[in-house]
Amino acid sequence: MRSIIVYCAVAAHLCTTSLSSTIPTNSESVIRLPIHEDENHSNNADTFSDIFHAAPRDSRNSWSKIRNKIVVRIFGSGEKHHGVRIHPHYSSGSSSSGVQKPLGDTPSKVPYSRYQNDVVLRFNITTTDEAAALAEAAEILFLDVWSATKDHADIRVDKDVVESLLGLLPESLQSSHARLMHDLAATVRETFPGSSEGPSNPLSPHSLSQYSGPYRPGQSEHFFSNYQPISVINPWMKLLRSLFPDHVEDFSIGQTYEGREIKGLKISKSGEPSSGKRKAIVITGASHAREWISVSTVCYLAHAFITGYRPRPFSEENVEAELGDREITRLVENFDWYFIPTLNVDGYVYTWTEDRLWRKNRQPTSLGFCKGIELDRSYSYKWGGQSQNNPCSENYPGEKEFEALESKNFAAWAQNLTTEGNTRIMGFLDLHSYSQQILYPYSYSCSQRPPDLENLEELAEVLAKGIRIRHGEHYEVSSACQGGGQFAQSDKDQKKDAKKAKRSQKSNGDDFMLTETGGGGSALDYFYSEIGVAYSYQIKLRDQGSYGFLLPKESIKPTGQEIESMVKSLGNFLIGDDKL
Ligand SMILES: *[C@@H]1O[C@H](CO)[C@@H](O)[C@H](O)[C@H]1NC(C)=O
Ligand SMILES: *[C@@H]1O[C@H](CO)[C@@H](O)[C@H](O)[C@H]1NC(C)=O
Ligand SMILES: *[C@@H]1O[C@H](CO)[C@@H](O)[C@H](O)[C@H]1NC(C)=O
Repeated sequence: MRSIIVYCAVAAHLCTTSLSSTIPTNSESVIRLPIHEDENHSNNADTFSDIFHAAPRDSRNSWSKIRNKIVVRIFGSGEKHHGVRIHPHYSSGSSSSGVQKPLGDTPSKVPYSRYQNDVVLRFNITTTDEAAALAEAAEILFLDVWSATKDHADIRVDKDVVESLLGLLPESLQSSHARLMHDLAATVRETFPGSSEGPSNPLSPHSLSQYSGPYRPGQSEHFFSNYQPISVINPWMKLLRSLFPDHVEDFSIGQTYEGREIKGLKISKSGEPSSGKRKAIVITGASHAREWISVSTVCYLAHAFITGYRPRPFSEENVEAELGDREITRLVENFDWYFIPTLNVDGYVYTWTEDRLWRKNRQPTSLGFCKGIELDRSYSYKWGGQSQNNPCSENYPGEKEFEALESKNFAAWAQNLTTEGNTRIMGFLDLHSYSQQILYPYSYSCSQRPPDLENLEELAEVLAKGIRIRHGEHYEVSSACQGGGQFAQSDKDQKKDAKKAKRSQKSNGDDFMLTETGGGGSALDYFYSEIGVAYSYQIKLRDQGSYGFLLPKESIKPTGQEIESMVKSLGNFLIGDDKL
C-alpha cells in the first residue's frame, strides 16, 4: 500500500484519479496498460523508492520498467480483477448518457490537503540533454508538467521523492532548480472564495438579487473579486442577457460528456441584422480546466463589451450613450463577438469540487483509472494521436480525432456558424494560462510556415503592445510550436525537422522533443487551417510562474483590463485603423 501512495505522490494527477475514483473497471483495461511483454510482473521491490533507487541512470528502458512495475503493483496484472465488483459511483466508462453526477459545483469541501506534500519545481534548462532527460521523466512517470519554455520547466512532484527524482536526472539539473511556491495547499486554498465572505458570496441569492433594478456599471465589481464556479457564471450570463436584450444573446455550442451545456454570450449591433455576410470574433477560455484566469478573463471581456456598447448617436440627448465606451461601440458595430468562458465545463466543475489542478476533460478512456482527454490535442487538424497513446498522460489526445466531445462540438459549432450562419470568423482567441505569451500557428510543427506568417506576427506585436500599455506587463510573441509549453513526443513532421531542432543525443528511435512543439490537434491550428480564421492566437495569460495556475484573485481585474486593451487593439487592427 505504501508504494501506491508514494507513486501517486510522484505522478500527482494519476494519483488524483487513483485515490478518488479508481479501481480499474475491468480486466481488459488493465491488460491494455503499456506494459512491455518482457516485464517480470512479480517484482518484489517493497516501496516505490526502492524501485526508484534501483534504477540505473539515463536509461529510457529502466524508466519504463519503473513505471510498469509501479502500475502492476498498484493495479495488479489483470487476472486479480476478475469479478471485482465496482461501486456504481466509481464506474466511469459504462454509461452512454454520461450523466452520472449532480451538475452543481458548490465548492463545499475541496480537499486541499491532497496538495500539502506537493511542491512545484522550476528547472533551469541549458542543454538539450537536460531537456531530454526532463521530457523523458515527465513522459514516462506522467509527471505533472505545469509549463515548459526554452529556458525552464515547472513540474509538480511530491517533496518526499524530489531527491529520488533528482538522482535520475543529469547532475547539472540537481542544483539548477528552485521551488516556486512555499505552500502549495495554502496557495490552492487562496484561489477559492474565502469562507468569511459568507453573504457576499456571489452564489447566494442575496448577491444575485443586487442585480435587480437598473444596471449600474460598477455592479459586477464583486463578480470579479473572486474566481467563480459555473453555477454562478451561467446565471450571471443569463442575467446580462436579460438586462441587455437588444445586443446580447446567449447560446450553447452543445453539451459536454457529462451532459452540461457549454454556454456563451454573443454581442452584436442592436436592430435589424444586416443582410450581408457577418464578421465575427470568437474568444474562448478553459480548454484546460485549471486555468481559471482564462475563465474570469473571458467573462471580464464579455462584461466590458456588453456594458460598454451603446447604440449611437453619442449626443447630449442620448444620455445612455454617455455611459458607454466609444471604442467598444465601434467594435460591436463592426463585428459580432462570441464569448465562451468555459469550453471544458466538466473539467472546470471538477476543479471546484475535487481537484483544483485538473487539466483534461472528464471523459472516460480505455483505462478506468485515468480519465480525461486533452481538448487542445483532440481537434482533427494534424491530430497527433499515434505519438501519445497513453490515457494517463496529461496530453492524451484520445483514441481518434474529435473523441473529446467538447472539442468536437466546438468545431461543429464554428463550422456551422460559417456556413449556415453566413458568418466569417475574422479572429479567434483561445485564452490559456500561464507564462504570458502570444502564440500564433502552427502548434503542430515548426517545420511548416503558416501562409500568413508576416500578418500573424505583425498583429501579435500589436496585441503585445495593447497589453503592455495597460499595466506594463510583457507578453512574449512566439510561434506556438516553440512557445507551446508542454513536453511532447516527436511526430513524423518533427523528425523531418530534427536537424534544426534540438533533440536528445542519446535517445534512439523513440525521441522526445522538448518545447519545440505545442502539439498537433490544437484548436489554434484547427481554426487557422480548417475554419480559415486568418488571425488565430493562443494567449497565455498571467503570470510567469510565481503562482502559475494558482494566480491570486487580486489579478483577475488587472488581467481582464490588459486583455480588454489587447482585444481592442485586435478589433481596431482588423477594422484597418489603429488610431481611434
Ligand atoms: C521474476 O521474478 C521472480 C521473483 O523475483 C523470479 O523468481 C523470476 O525468475 C523472475 N523471472 C524473470 C523472467 O526474470
Ligand atoms: C535560473 O536561471 C536564472 C536566470 O537565467 C537565475 O536567475 C536563477 O538563479 C537560476 N536558478 C537556479 C536555481 O539555478
Ligand atoms: C446552425 O446555424 C444556424 C444559423 O445560425 C442555426 O439556426 C442552427 O441552429 C445551427 N445549427 C446547429 C446544429 O448549431
